[in-house]
Amino acid sequence: MSITEQSLSGKTALVTGSGRGIGRAIALRLARAGADVVINYHRNVAPAEEVAALVRESGRKALVVRANLSKTEDVDMLFDSIGSAFNGLDIFISNAASGFNRPALQQKVTGWDWTMNVNARAFLFAAQRAAPLMEKRGGGHIVAISSPGASRVLPDYIVVGASKAALESLTRYLAVELSPMNIVVNAIAPGLVMTDALKHFAVLGDPQVIDRAVANTPAGRVVTPEDVAELVAFLCSPAVFMIRGQVITIDGGFTLIAPRWSLRLRSARLPSHPGRVKRPPARQGLPSCLALPLPHLSRGFRSRPYPDLPLQIPALRCLPEQPAGPALHHPGCSSARPGSQAPRQIHSTVRIAM
Ligand SMILES: NC(=O)c1ccc[n+]([C@@H]2O[C@H](COP(=O)([O-])OP(=O)(O)OC[C@H]3O[C@@H](n4cnc5c(N)ncnc54)[C@H](OP(=O)(O)O)[C@@H]3O)[C@@H](O)[C@H]2O)c1
Repeated sequence: MSITEQSLSGKTALVTGSGRGIGRAIALRLARAGADVVINYHRNVAPAEEVAALVRESGRKALVVRANLSKTEDVDMLFDSIGSAFNGLDIFISNAASGFNRPALQQKVTGWDWTMNVNARAFLFAAQRAAPLMEKRGGGHIVAISSPGASRVLPDYIVVGASKAALESLTRYLAVELSPMNIVVNAIAPGLVMTDALKHFAVLGDPQVIDRAVANTPAGRVVTPEDVAELVAFLCSPAVFMIRGQVITIDGGFTLIAPRWSLRLRSARLPSHPGRVKRPPARQGLPSCLALPLPHLSRGFRSRPYPDLPLQIPALRCLPEQPAGPALHHPGCSSARPGSQAPRQIHSTVRIAM
């Protein structure tokens, strides 16, 4: 029996977007832990009803509520329904998400508004409504499902990434402001999970991308909805009392691996110390101060996670090779040409997002 098995007996949980994908697994896991579950959907009623049937089969109550979270009036209606049916709430999982996946220059105001409203605004105003319902129960747990795209650059993910960054910021503020009501707030950032959501990513149309993601994951497989659900169950348990406002990554170690094109700037000595001058040969197209061998990567971790993403190295573009003249200057970086007044050593690391 795991730490969370049956520990939520008598609790009421709301999981937004729980007819499909990760939300479905969370709803079923919380029901298995003993909670009654409010299942929210927007467009697909049949899978939501199916999840409700499974919850009821496990001996728990299920309430299915259609609510489009981009509308604040629907958010209010959802919580009115919960108040009427359960007169309180113990767990709120902000899982539903939507968005327009396209490059920055093709984004539109309507797509921004939709994405931000469903993924971020709804979280704040749902938490406003959840808090008094939780207070009636003596406290509660809130978990937001974020994404690595909140802090890293993923293909076509700019607006969803911004909405997830807002979600993570809201998580921290709510964790502090709701603490006096004994409400614990945290977030989860899952790696790649095989759900319908992936159909909306052009880059994932190539099945080899998934194979490469697996090869780049120390745990040896991608994350499953059940993995995320297990972590949610833990974050809704009393054991989590001292964890507040954190974003927990669950990706099998995928993001631990340094990108292949990270360049570590090693020391470049001034010629005034001739015996210690070590200037590696220049890589074509790179300024000499960055012209270093790519770091060695162990077998199995060699592929780029997004091979279809054009190689973009903005940090290098602003540093064109100069055949002669004054030293190049860049924050944290200096070249060591004879006669330059550049600092003696380079200690910085340049990271290039892939
Ligand atoms: N899959 C991944 O690789 C991955 C990775 C990192 C983070 N995540 C995050 O994990 C969460 C779940 O993702 P998923 O992959 O399970 O997504 P999914 O399979 O696409 O399911 C999305 C869910 O959100 C609901 N939804 C969408 N728009 C809504 C709206 N306006 N109002 C109410 N509900 C709405 C959908 O309901 P309907 O079926 O009724 O439309 C559906 O249940 C999201 O927050 C996502 O950003 C996923």
